[in-house]
Amino acid sequence: SVLIMVSMLSVCFLLASLALRAPLSSTAPCCRNKLLLISFDGFRWDYDQDVDTPNLDAMAQDGIKATYATPPFISITSPSHFTLITGKYVENHGVIHNMWFNTTTGEKKPYYMTQFVNEWWDNGSVPIWITAQRQGLKAGSLHFPGTAATYQGEKAHLSEVEPRFYDYSNETQWRENVDKVMDWFTVQHLDFVALYFGEPDSTGHKYGPDSPQRRNMVKQVDRTVGYIRSVVDQRSLTDHLNIIITADHGMSTVHRAPVVQEITLSKIPGFSFKDLQFHIVDYGPASLLLPKEGLLDKVYNALKNAHPKLHVYKKEEMPRRLHYSKNSRILPLFLYADPGYVINGLIPVQFNNGEHGFDNDAMDMKTIFRAVGPDFKKNLEVEPFETVHVYALMCHLLRIQPEPNDGSLEVTRNILQTKTNEESACSSISICFGVLTQVFIGLTAAAGFLVVVFVIITVHTVHKRRKSQHRSKKNGLDEKCPKTKQSRF
Ligand SMILES: *[C@@H]1O[C@H](CO)[C@@H](O)[C@H](O)[C@H]1NC(C)=O
Ligand SMILES: *[C@@H]1O[C@H](CO)[C@@H](O)[C@H](O)[C@H]1NC(C)=O
Ligand SMILES: *[C@@H]1O[C@H](CO)[C@@H](O)[C@H](O)[C@H]1NC(C)=O
Ligand SMILES: [Zn+2]
Repeated sequence: SVLIMVSMLSVCFLLASLALRAPLSSTAPCCRNKLLLISFDGFRWDYDQDVDTPNLDAMAQDGIKATYATPPFISITSPSHFTLITGKYVENHGVIHNMWFNTTTGEKKPYYMTQFVNEWWDNGSVPIWITAQRQGLKAGSLHFPGTAATYQGEKAHLSEVEPRFYDYSNETQWRENVDKVMDWFTVQHLDFVALYFGEPDSTGHKYGPDSPQRRNMVKQVDRTVGYIRSVVDQRSLTDHLNIIITADHGMSTVHRAPVVQEITLSKIPGFSFKDLQFHIVDYGPASLLLPKEGLLDKVYNALKNAHPKLHVYKKEEMPRRLHYSKNSRILPLFLYADPGYVINGLIPVQFNNGEHGFDNDAMDMKTIFRAVGPDFKKNLEVEPFETVHVYALMCHLLRIQPEPNDGSLEVTRNILQTKTNEESACSSISICFGVLTQVFIGLTAAAGFLVVVFVIITVHTVHKRRKSQHRSKKNGLDEKCPKTKQSRF
């Protein structure tokens, strides 16, 4: 019987270890809910303060509102969105501008065309939809900056890039996009979707952040938030879907001559475009310059202190807090203006009434952070934080292991629901439940196996006993416990 026990135990251990060695089931839902990340481009933190926004207000009551969120520097679309989905500061993810450029050939591509320059995006960091897919989840992206690119050979499972001349403001199309994303969650079973809206950025640029047009666009955003939440409810997703609404930056009113003295580089004594090999100017408040060989100091000295609202830095002198210097793509000279001003080249050719790209310390650059869903606390307003931390939060919500990043979950942990006993048993370090499930399956299998073995032994024993009782009766012996012939089991 010792031999029987030993062989049975070894079979059990074998089963258990096989179960443990099986790949962690990433489909195990456990504490994982779906996640929708929404960006309303250029939604300044205080845009809800001079417009009625019943739906954003209701969302704040049902969930989380940060007083504001701080974007990374440079506070423009592609760099800031890529920070949201990689958790890295701009110097660390490499998407340093909305424009792709080549300083040798002088070639530049505007925002939309840059979407299709794969190497611009695929520069060593992968967006969260790739991270999620690598860990067995299904992810999608609709119009989010960076959607078109292939990262280390992978794309989002479902993705849609807007057409070349897209009307970013059509509310009907916004609703169609929302419906599509809801299909992705319910019909296509995606776990994560990033959804981008190009407003109120365009309206803020064109008419300025204090215009009635901007206020109307914020009402449209608010209606859309209401629409999203009602569709989520109709599709029975309310208890299974977390929603985060944030954006890439705010917006600031641009002042013009003669009210202010504008910054026009060509008018600065000692400065000449002939000293430059390459430049990006006339692009809001920030400029990148590559002086010709040996002329860096000449250009720098001419520009430094040339205008009270103009900041001039050699790349390596950039304030560390901006996290915008340690990248080979950032050019040797960087200029940025204070809010209210843009940097003109030869003559003023920028006619926007609103701009962004300023220091991310400026209140006008702050954006919103709102969240609602089963994993979030309710009716809680929290202190501001940087959007670089949103990635770690999203990875936590999706129960996936984040890539190395510059953010921290600790910054947003206070907005999460305190877990129930069952949930805390299975996570805070993500994957969790897979292991427990496997152990449980392993133990169940082992227990089942033991039961079968027990039944067989019992049946066999009873059968033998009957036989031997039969024999004993014949032989006049009472053989209680047959000990032979079973060791080979
Ligand atoms: C820029 O263009 C030059 C000349 O065609 C090429 O050798 C270089 O690789 C390009 N650089 C980038 C970053 O595309
Ligand atoms: C990132 O892009 C730069 C050129 O812009 C290139 O030199 C570098 O090798 C790229 N890094 C990765 C990891 O792709
Ligand atoms: C908005 O989009 C809808 C649906 O695609 C289209 O029928 C409508 O003509 C568009 N409206 C405008 C003003 O372009
Ligand atoms: Zn913009």
